[in-house]
Amino acid sequence: MGPWYLIGALLLLSARAGDSTNKIIPQQIGSSHTNAANGVGGMHHHIPKNSIATNAVNNNNNKGTVLSGNGVIVAGGGSISPSSSLNTITEEPEFTEYIENVTVPAGRNIKLACSVKNLGSYKVAWMHFEQSAILTVHNHVITRNPRISVTHDKHDRHRSWYLHINNVQEEDKGRYMCQINTVTAKTQFGYLNVVVPPNIDDSLSSSDVIVRENSNISLRCKATGSPKPVIKWKRDDNSRITISKNHIVSEWEGDTLELTRISRLDMGAYLCIASNGVPPTVSKRIKVSVDY
Ligand SMILES: *[C@@H]1O[C@H](CO)[C@@H](O)[C@H](O)[C@H]1NC(C)=O
Ligand SMILES: *[C@@H]1O[C@H](CO)[C@@H](O)[C@H](O)[C@H]1NC(C)=O
Repeated sequence: MGPWYLIGALLLLSARAGDSTNKIIPQQIGSSHTNAANGVGGMHHHIPKNSIATNAVNNNNNKGTVLSGNGVIVAGGGSISPSSSLNTITEEPEFTEYIENVTVPAGRNIKLACSVKNLGSYKVAWMHFEQSAILTVHNHVITRNPRISVTHDKHDRHRSWYLHINNVQEEDKGRYMCQINTVTAKTQFGYLNVVVPPNIDDSLSSSDVIVRENSNISLRCKATGSPKPVIKWKRDDNSRITISKNHIVSEWEGDTLELTRISRLDMGAYLCIASNGVPPTVSKRIKVSVDY
């Protein structure tokens, strides 16, 4: 488990380092690793304080290049030819393509690809950013989520590393991070968005009603889905809806439809229609009978 230590630590640290940056921030190393490790589900390693920061800092390639205050190279350090010195250094791994952003309906199986060149003996890990969860490292699945697996392209010099998620659920939403365990970890993100078609919850919605003329009624429709569905009300026969004497509309938007001082003319079927851009749109028919 030796090298995993480091990979795990790098992943956790990167996950803690904030939204827009993946830099390892020394101050964070001692502070919050315990919680993060718990969140990973089973990875309760102790991360040696500061060891990673030290490695990262000491590994600056100081080959005589002088940087000015703003990071611009101002002197080449004598006679070292940049091209010849570079040739003796093994090339570092690099990402070759961006990770796709995908939007899928819940229930599908998907795979995200992380493409790398010059991986050498380094390893590729996948993690879920928002959950600070390490999903896979190299060929191994770390998470206990049984819907997750990892494969790689054997015929392609380990270039593509695929994270598979079966039966995608809403909770899988978020940023997926592919990371190479170079001294300063290299990281790439892809976003998975999971959509769910609307569903009207019958137990929380009105059913057919019989009311006295001139009374007020409130019809309710509750729908779930992702994104959150919008509810519209219409009359079955397309006639207009009398919200009140002075307020007559062709349709109404919102979870509840309130009709005041209902008249026998308001009698009929009302439809609540839930939509969120993910097909199919669903509706429920509520019959209103007026007793007069
Ligand atoms: C994925 O989405 C993010 C944020 O919306 C964006 O910055 C990035 O460029 C997208 N990646 C690709 C490959 O389109
Ligand atoms: C119905 O609603 C109207 C307007 O809000 C109110 O004035 C009236 O008293 C209500 N009638 C009943 C029976 O609750």
